[in-house]
Amino acid sequence: MIVLGIETSCDETGVAIYDGKNGRLLSNALYSQIDLHAQYGGVVPELASRDHVAKLKPLVYEALAEAKITLKEIDAIAYTAMPGLVGALMVGAAFAKALAYMLDIPSVAIHHMEGHLLAPLLSEGEKPDYPYVALLVSGGHTQLIEVDGFGQYKLLGESIDDAAGEAFDKTAKLLGLPYPGGPHLAKLAEKGKPDQFELPRPMCDRPGLDFSFSGLKTAVLNTWQQSDQSDQTKADIANAFQQAVVDTIVIKCKRALKQSKVKNLVVAGGVSANKHLREKLQQLADKNSWRVFYPPMAYCTDNGAMIAIAGAYRLQHGFVDQDMSIEVKPRAPLNHT
Ligand code: KG4
Ligand code: ZN
Repeated sequence: MIVLGIETSCDETGVAIYDGKNGRLLSNALYSQIDLHAQYGGVVPELASRDHVAKLKPLVYEALAEAKITLKEIDAIAYTAMPGLVGALMVGAAFAKALAYMLDIPSVAIHHMEGHLLAPLLSEGEKPDYPYVALLVSGGHTQLIEVDGFGQYKLLGESIDDAAGEAFDKTAKLLGLPYPGGPHLAKLAEKGKPDQFELPRPMCDRPGLDFSFSGLKTAVLNTWQQSDQSDQTKADIANAFQQAVVDTIVIKCKRALKQSKVKNLVVAGGVSANKHLREKLQQLADKNSWRVFYPPMAYCTDNGAMIAIAGAYRLQHGFVDQDMSIEVKPRAPLNHT
C-alpha cells in the first residue's frame, strides 16, 4: 500500500510518499511559506491558500521523483481535512480528491493532530508501544492524550486559551523578534541568564491537566515594560518565559503519566523541537523510569510524512472517504470519525 500524503493546513505545503506494507517513508517534499508571511508578522490565510495552489503540483512531482515511482503506483491519497485554515485545507483536500478520482484510487481524510501523534512512528529507531501518553504541543494545540491503541484517544487535558506554540509566537512578537517567533525566542533564551525574572506557572497550583498560557504573555509584557529594555534583559526575559512554559508542561506531563499509570510519553508538534523542553522531559523520565519518544526532528513541525503514515494506518483500519464531497473543518475533536 503506497500512500501519498498531502498537508496544507497552515503555512507549510507538505507532500510525502509512505510505503505502508514495508513501513518505510519513500520521500518527503516540503515547502515552507515562512518568507511569504514574515513581512506581515504572521500567517495571512488568503496568501497561504494561493501559495498552496502554486506549490502542490511541483511538490507531488518532486516527491514522486525522490521515491522513484510514478503516479500510477500510488494506491491511496491521504490529506489533512482538519483542523486548520479553511481555505488552505480546501486547496489540499480538493487537490487530493481530484487526483484520487483521476487515478481511481481511494482518498482518506486525516486529522492534522493525529498526524502529529503518529509522527514518532516515522522514527528509524525504537518506536513507542501502546499505551502511551501523547503531549501535543503545536502552534494551535496543547493537549495531553492517552493513546491506548490506534484510534483510541482519550483527551486528558488541553489549553483553555493560547496553545504553547502560540504563546511562544505572541511573546516573541511583543519582544520584537521576527516571525515565526518560537524558534527565535528559544534561541534568544539560550543567551539569557536563568532565574533573573519570576513568571507564573499557570494552573499548576490546582488539580487537573488543562493548561492556560495567555496570562504569561501579559506577564512578559509587564516585565519588559518595567525593565531597562537592554539586549541582555530581553534574553533573560526570554529565558524566564521559556522556563515557565517548560516547567508548566513538565508538571502536567508528570501528573498525566502518574494518573494514567502509563510509562511511555510521546511528544509531538512544533514545540517538541524545543531543546530545553526535551532536556527537562528527559530528566523527568529518567527520575521515574519512564521513556520519552519524539518524532525525528524534521517531522516535529508540519509535514506531509505524518499525514501519509496516518493515512496508511487509517486505511489499514478500514477508514476511507465515502464520496467525492469535500469537507474541511477549522476545528475538530481528534476522534472525528
Ligand atoms: O506543529 P507546527 O509546525 O504547526 C502547527 O500545527 O501549529 O507548530 C508550529 C509551532 C509554532 O508556534 C512555532 O513557534 C513552534 O511550533 N516552535 C517552537 C520551536 N520550533 C517551533 N516553539 C518553541 N521552541 C522551538 N524550538
Ligand atoms: Zn501542526
